[in-house]
Amino acid sequence: MKEQILKIFQAAKTDIASAKEADLQLISAKYIGRKSELADMLKKVGNLDREKRKLAGKLLNQVKNQIQKLIDSRKADLLTEKQTQAKRDTSLPGIRPTTGHLSPLTLVERELVGIFRELGFTVVTGPEAEWEKYNFDMLNIPANHPARDEWDTFWLKENTSGGKLFSWMKPGVSKNTLLRTHTSPVQIRYMLDNKPPLRIISPGKVFRYEAEDATHAAVFNQLEGLMVDKNINVAHLKAVMLHFVRRVLGDEHNIRLRPSFFPFTEPSFEVDVSCGLCKGEGCRSCHGSGWLELMGAGMVHPQVLRNVGIDPNEYSGFAFGAGIERLAMLKYGITDIRLFLGGDTRFTNQF
Ligand code: FA5
Repeated sequence: MKEQILKIFQAAKTDIASAKEADLQLISAKYIGRKSELADMLKKVGNLDREKRKLAGKLLNQVKNQIQKLIDSRKADLLTEKQTQAKRDTSLPGIRPTTGHLSPLTLVERELVGIFRELGFTVVTGPEAEWEKYNFDMLNIPANHPARDEWDTFWLKENTSGGKLFSWMKPGVSKNTLLRTHTSPVQIRYMLDNKPPLRIISPGKVFRYEAEDATHAAVFNQLEGLMVDKNINVAHLKAVMLHFVRRVLGDEHNIRLRPSFFPFTEPSFEVDVSCGLCKGEGCRSCHGSGWLELMGAGMVHPQVLRNVGIDPNEYSGFAFGAGIERLAMLKYGITDIRLFLGGDTRFTNQF
């Protein structure tokens, strides 16, 4: 009888080990249910003599309990397995990771750099903390010249120790420093170190102490351009302006040159671009004129060429300074310049 009981136990153990949840009830009935072999044997135990009855009864009950424990433990294992699988449901849609992206200003700046590189322009940069001499004096804007009023300036503290305020400072130049009000001082820096023919662009941040509104920021970006060679004239300036405006904004756009004044160019122009919203007919965005102001430009003033040691009788050139935010606003239909620095992800995530 003992062998038979142990055989049943072994068979039950094997069945339980590989059982699925739905099988467990049947297995329980088969091995320890009322109609199981073990139940039959328990009924017959009464016919045995006293000693054998005691041993057989004990063994039968131990095996029955053991089988029950194995069933319970298998049930618990199957449940844990099920819960773990539910947590790792590979059929669920994934969680998209948040990835960074470029700001519209960087996109436009890179596009501009690409366009001008194709035309043979080199990209150069200059410091944001600039000498007064390069930002104003050498650009033909002497102290007390009314033109300085146009560029409300953030002045930096004057260096009184006699030492260098910034590592890039060369000795012997006026120590007055400021946050550059335009990218035009890069023209001076480049022309002091390089002789014509010259073709450069210089993108970068500029700073003006002025009230902000929908189209004016105190910190914004400009793209400076400069071309100096023999026989350069306004036709070259206009052709380059039209080419890059159409490349960035589309072939349907036109430009016009309006007479203007900058102390470092003569003649000087404001370059306007036809309004993309009304196609030049006049709307609220362009204040009814059909044109939007985009950049300042002109032929490099002979005095500026002399200031950097270039003979204006031999060479001439054109220069321009475009607002990168203004270009991005036109390209993407952005109506408020303050959005660029506002940090609102509902805005930035659109690019
Ligand atoms: C200048 O800064 C001249 N240096 C441009 C220049 C360069 C003229 C070379 C001739 C030769 P202006 O202050 O107009 O010019 O600024 C140039 C452009 O910068 C403007 O047409 C406009 O697009 C942009 N801009 C000017 N002020 C702001 C402002 N507060 N916020 C955003 N963009 C501005």
